[in-house]
Amino acid sequence: MSVNWILYLSRPTTTPWPATVLDIARACERANPAAGLTGALLFSNELYLQYLEGTGPALEALWARLARDDRHEIVWRATGIGTGRRLGSLVMGYLDADREGAPLRDHPLWRARADWTPDQAEPLIALMVDLARDKYPSSLGG
Ligand SMILES: Cc1cc2nc3c(=O)[nH]c(=O)nc-3n(C[C@H](O)[C@H](O)[C@H](O)COP(=O)(O)O)c2cc1C
Repeated sequence: MSVNWILYLSRPTTTPWPATVLDIARACERANPAAGLTGALLFSNELYLQYLEGTGPALEALWARLARDDRHEIVWRATGIGTGRRLGSLVMGYLDADREGAPLRDHPLWRARADWTPDQAEPLIALMVDLARDKYPSSLGG
């Protein structure tokens, strides 16, 4: 079944870990299951990269909140329609690039993060799905 997705890059205006990420986690637990949203959030002191999948209206409703959230400044956003969910039942996966980044830090895409553009949405999503599969195998179906 087709599923809409959003991938966006933003810059934190406050240090993400721990307080802001824990606040985001609370918001996700409260709102995302009911909205049928699944996602993954890659964060470091310098960036958020969030991938979200669900229906178009659910994504647009969340986007309206994200866009006015002053804990970050949006840099770019990419959207698309896929043939199915890539994150299984994962409400939100958290990928901390500064503290658990070993597999990430050596990745060529991560090293090129200063130059990420919306054109790289596919490889960036694939990277996040790979990391999420390693970290949350049961949510992604093993
Ligand atoms: C990087 C980042 C990611 C976020 N992800 C989500 C999310 O997936 N779901 C959500 O409900 N809120 C998320 N939030 C929080 C929303 O921006 C917003 O604060 C929250 O949904 C409450 O909105 P409200 O106060 O307008 O009800 C995120 C915030 C940031 C900074």
